[in-house]
Amino acid sequence: MTFNRSIKIAPSILSADFADFGREIAAIEAEGADWVHVDVMDGHFVPNLTFGPPLCKAIRKHIKTVMDVHLMIAPVDPYIEAFADAGADIITAHHEAGPHIHRTLQAIRATGKKAGLALNPGTPVEAAAPLLDLCDLICVMTVNPGFGGQKFIHSQVDKIRSLRKMIGDRPIHIEIDGGITPETAPLVTAAGADVLVAGSAVFAGGSVAKPEVYGKNIRAIRTATASAQT
Ligand code: DX5
Ligand code: ZN
Repeated sequence: MTFNRSIKIAPSILSADFADFGREIAAIEAEGADWVHVDVMDGHFVPNLTFGPPLCKAIRKHIKTVMDVHLMIAPVDPYIEAFADAGADIITAHHEAGPHIHRTLQAIRATGKKAGLALNPGTPVEAAAPLLDLCDLICVMTVNPGFGGQKFIHSQVDKIRSLRKMIGDRPIHIEIDGGITPETAPLVTAAGADVLVAGSAVFAGGSVAKPEVYGKNIRAIRTATASAQT
């Protein structure tokens, strides 16, 4: 993975057919996905449950691009090794998930994987400041984590702008997760984001039998951002 700030679309397989992940992943990648975003939920840190390391390992062989694993779990540290072994390229942990996020990011880096820091909508951008040297990615949540298909929280756009300034020329991706559509995507890329997670907006109306809809949805987001990146 070489670092650049070009716009990357990362469909969240939370909105895919859970009985058919292999073919769903092949379809979104063939239709233009840059990364594959994998939402891990524990029914404790967030009020929903998805899947763990064995599922990640099983889908890894279907991913040709980047496996971007978003851990919405607490505690995080006991599971980092397992997600690294499952083949994640990026492992993102939440600032709010425990008292030792600095240690968590160190532990992710120690596995040789890229380390991501996620900030909930209620967490101020300043929380990232002491951690920048340990981050390869910062994920600004534009919904409260737990579910796909929620409404974009507009108050987070200023946070993205401040984060972009704070990062300066450090090689840190700014990822936005939640409520991304062709309408909201240009707002976040104009504020400095380069990775756009999108679940419902990518998978809506498509299927492995109709993958061209995924392509159309991905292109609609990408095109909307064309004139809006800083
Ligand atoms: C929310 C997840 C997101 C979610 C995005 O907790 O982290 O990745 O799947 O879904 P949409 O794009 O539908 O808001
Ligand atoms: Zn996510």
